[in-house]
Amino acid sequence: MWGNLSKYTPMFLLLALSGLILLLRNIQTLEKFNCQTVSALYQLQSRLDSAFRSAGPLQLDRNRSYCGLLGPDLTADEAAEELHLLESIAWPEPRFSAVTLRQSSDPTRSFFVILSSGGEWRVGGQLEALVHMHDFYGRPKRYGGDFLLARLLSPELRAGVTGRVVDHQNGFYSVIFWLPWVGPAQVEVILVHPSEAVQVLRRLREERPDRVFFKSQYHSGYFSETTICNLCLPPRQPLCNYTDRHTGEPWFCYKPKLLDCDTRINHAKGGYQKHLLTSQEALFFQSDINIKVPIQASGPDHVIVLPEGKEKPELEKNMNADAAMFRPSGFYYQDAWQAVGGVPVQQFNDTSAITECLRGKVVNMYGDSTVRQWFEYLNALVPDLKEFNLGSPKNVGPFMSVDSEHNILLKYRCHGPPIRFSTVAASELRYVANELEGLPGGRDTVVVVTVWSHFSTFPVEVYIRRLRNIRRAILHLMDRAPDTLVFIRTANLQALDPEVSLYNSDWFSLQLDTVLRAMFRGLPVILVDAWEMTLAHSLPHALHPPPTIVKNMIDVFLTHICPKRKN
Ligand SMILES: *[C@@H]1O[C@H](CO)[C@@H](O)[C@H](O)[C@H]1NC(C)=O
Ligand SMILES: *[C@@H]1O[C@H](CO)[C@@H](O)[C@H](O)[C@H]1NC(C)=O
Ligand SMILES: *[C@@H]1O[C@H](CO)[C@@H](O)[C@H](O)[C@H]1NC(C)=O
Repeated sequence: MWGNLSKYTPMFLLLALSGLILLLRNIQTLEKFNCQTVSALYQLQSRLDSAFRSAGPLQLDRNRSYCGLLGPDLTADEAAEELHLLESIAWPEPRFSAVTLRQSSDPTRSFFVILSSGGEWRVGGQLEALVHMHDFYGRPKRYGGDFLLARLLSPELRAGVTGRVVDHQNGFYSVIFWLPWVGPAQVEVILVHPSEAVQVLRRLREERPDRVFFKSQYHSGYFSETTICNLCLPPRQPLCNYTDRHTGEPWFCYKPKLLDCDTRINHAKGGYQKHLLTSQEALFFQSDINIKVPIQASGPDHVIVLPEGKEKPELEKNMNADAAMFRPSGFYYQDAWQAVGGVPVQQFNDTSAITECLRGKVVNMYGDSTVRQWFEYLNALVPDLKEFNLGSPKNVGPFMSVDSEHNILLKYRCHGPPIRFSTVAASELRYVANELEGLPGGRDTVVVVTVWSHFSTFPVEVYIRRLRNIRRAILHLMDRAPDTLVFIRTANLQALDPEVSLYNSDWFSLQLDTVLRAMFRGLPVILVDAWEMTLAHSLPHALHPPPTIVKNMIDVFLTHICPKRKN
């Protein structure tokens, strides 16, 4: 590469010389000029480079083997856990390779029926519906893999609860609800993506981990350069290896032409790759046709749930054991989240109650923008909390809010790469696991971790590795300070259109969220079930859920910090 460049050496010299002359004439304008000079050189060299390369510099190999090699080797236990986790999220593979749109699942020709259950439903019992999927010709589907979501709503009672969907892999799906309230209840089933679209998402996840890309700026003296970064980069140019020393988390950027790897000053989202789909594949991603479209009932779509009978309700005998065990983590009643089992959720309606609850606490929030939303919510709501201006970039942080009278400290810091924020200073780019290792912990320390959304474009192994590191750090924290309260806010549903689906589909989120729950099961952490709390509510799905839902999450959070004392 430098050999090819050598014939341009005279140009380099010329440009460098003109920079030098300007230095003598006007020191003030030098920095800007030199940046332009360097950038002109960079552009020249980029053009040269691409002339000698068949693919463009951003086009990654459709072969992730270079990606799989990254990161430290797994121990036998880690490998076994990973295999188990991947098996637990296995999604039915397609039986046919070339399915046309008309042969794919059509929500408007599909329907569900509420199974009769003797025509009577009682609170604490179950309701089952059967979904029949059909294609655009109206023919029944013979294979599974459609991504369906189901919930039971009561607009009158402002109540809602999620249902469990069971794929029978023959075009039929069972939806099972646990009935938490007395009164009207309406079944809603949504086709999020047809199975044919899920296959495409799976392909993208494995083959195009580059579809969101990143960039870093390098700066030293008068020089500035920007290069592309990612978790895996095909090594067709020299790389800067930013693999984290403590966690082994890999991260790479292409080496700048002129500057050293240690002159990296920031990290930012670079952009989204376009043209990811064939025209045939694109048909499986159409708003109002096959993205998040409701499936109608054949017959009634609602029931009236009666109070508990004299005898305890018996579970349906024809339900399989797995379905019979289904319990949601909670439900809405009068718009307030009620926990199923566990501590009753208190409502923190007035800000003085929040202040009292947080008195003397240090709350450390780490993760993506969905936990930053908690920081923003509390900071905006509680007048005694004053944001301390750290001069951090908007929406990026780190942020800090202080109530010196009640001795409350609230902090937010984003997670490390692949964070898709605008521009994070390299000095502020930290892995959650490393931050946790530096936390003393104790009875007045609260930790909230939310890491999911920015991992949806990568193979699941990447997320497993990240959670393994965070989990290890949480266990260390619990060992040295067992009184520390640790919360994990799960993934939530979001608004999807044809484009967003390819990067952030709820299908990716569901897969990650299933892994998250499995990896923290049985550990002393408190899960705030954002998934159920967004699905069970009738408000539209949004990456950043509306205030009503955030309020309920905060109520759950504060309930655990300040459990009601029994009198
Ligand atoms: C992927 O890359 C590996 C190693 O470079 C190579 O052996 C293999 O043939 C490639 N596979 C495909 C499908 O291109
Ligand atoms: C990056 O660095 C890590 C540790 O510093 C090393 O284990 C790994 O092999 C390096 N990766 C590459 C592709 O150079
Ligand atoms: C909180 O507000 C809701 C709605 O305004 C109300 O229904 C509930 O009773 C209030 N709870 C408390 C503890 O004040």
